[in-house]
Amino acid sequence: MTSRSQLVIVANRLPVDRVDLPDGSRGWRRSPGGLVSALDPVMRANDGVWIGWPGGTETDLEPFEDDGLSLVPVELTAEEVEEFYEGMSNATLWPIYHDVVAKPEFHREWWDAYVRVNERFTAKAVEVAEEGATVWVHDYQLQLVPQMLREARPDLRIGFYLHIPFPPAELFAQLPWRRQVLEGLLGADLVGFQMSGGAQNFVRLVRQRVGHKTHRDLIYLPDDRTVRAAAFPISIDTGSFEELARQDSVAARAKEIREALGNPTKVFLGVDRLDYTKGIHARLRAFGELIEDGHFDVEDAVFVQVASPSRERVEQYRILRDEIDRLVGHVNGDLGRIGRPAISYLHAAYPREEMAALYRAADIMVVTPFRDGMNLVAKEYVACRYDDAGALVLSEFAGAAAELRQAWQVNPYDINGIKAAMLEAYRADEKETTKRMRAMRKTVLTRDVTAWAGSFLEALADIRPGHGKAVKPVSPE
Ligand code: F6P
Repeated sequence: MTSRSQLVIVANRLPVDRVDLPDGSRGWRRSPGGLVSALDPVMRANDGVWIGWPGGTETDLEPFEDDGLSLVPVELTAEEVEEFYEGMSNATLWPIYHDVVAKPEFHREWWDAYVRVNERFTAKAVEVAEEGATVWVHDYQLQLVPQMLREARPDLRIGFYLHIPFPPAELFAQLPWRRQVLEGLLGADLVGFQMSGGAQNFVRLVRQRVGHKTHRDLIYLPDDRTVRAAAFPISIDTGSFEELARQDSVAARAKEIREALGNPTKVFLGVDRLDYTKGIHARLRAFGELIEDGHFDVEDAVFVQVASPSRERVEQYRILRDEIDRLVGHVNGDLGRIGRPAISYLHAAYPREEMAALYRAADIMVVTPFRDGMNLVAKEYVACRYDDAGALVLSEFAGAAAELRQAWQVNPYDINGIKAAMLEAYRADEKETTKRMRAMRKTVLTRDVTAWAGSFLEALADIRPGHGKAVKPVSPE
């Protein structure tokens, strides 16, 4: 049994993944994500507890400790994985919140599973939160938890952070359960978004659809509570990425990668989860056309695309995989030579060391999502370029575009525009790329993920300051 805590993190995923150990038993391995490293120090300082789904459908999991962190697993049945995770979360909410890039599906039984699973997460939080504790709920899979928690435990201080974009009112209005979702989020004291546009969309919807009074970023509830909706752009663990990129072994691996690619003049790189929001197809098409148009040759340039497998049982993701396979086949079949494919396509996930080596090996990083909450890959690339070299082509529809203004920004729907930006970045001289990279590094170095977590928790503590216990802050190193 886990002891009760004054800081509780509630997220769909636990910060660990299941692994098979060499002795045949099953263990846990820390997931590579930035959220874990951001919350790690504050979790330790406050003896925090993290509630989440470990993936899969394993049963009889007890709360456990991993490297000093207290973890509470939430179990899902196979049917719930299908209806709550693949269905409502990733085939309804995900496309609606990403500009309807794919058509969202609406199924009442998916919604019922979403309510049920949100109740289960809430019940765990109710159990482990100390009197007056701070509970920080994360992301679109758990939007009903704040209200459920508020009803069960009015003593708590509740924060919610949405990692993905919050859509314009016109798109959100399609959701048959729009009012329930808005009311679910209003259970929090502070609702955090990536961008101020998302916070404004939310406040406007609350005014229109729920009828509460609002003023700027504040929402006034009839029970005399005030909810704040504001932007807290997320970041990465910049220092640890740079440190990794500086390692000799990573430099050696970067050299090896370029050699394996045939030492072309320029290496283009794309790194994404294989997701239809990421605009992978458009950028690979743009690259193929640049070769076809004669701007460069496969001896001059190669495109390395890493696409990590994701949500593979959701139909739209299967369709996308087939489309990318076909396009890569086409481009390489038409334009490649023996031992020189135009696109080096890797459908796999790699450890951080390998990613740092790829970032170091790449001259031009191409990030072209149709819509993205932030896009941490763009920031990782910048963090690894301590040599001030390298160029970034970045979609203006990624949250990161607001901060990384010196990137070559593109409209991801405009293939000619992507081609022009890729070509400019390809031809840019060292003076130009250095100037841009230096400015972007300044931003990424000062605003890292620890600062992000600190600013959210501080803002949460500022709301109703006399209420509940304060979370012990963690001073920057
Ligand atoms: O960007 C939103 C997000 O849910 C991240 O938190 C997560 O790392 C990624 O998408 C992959 O999500 P999933 O849990 O579906 O594999």
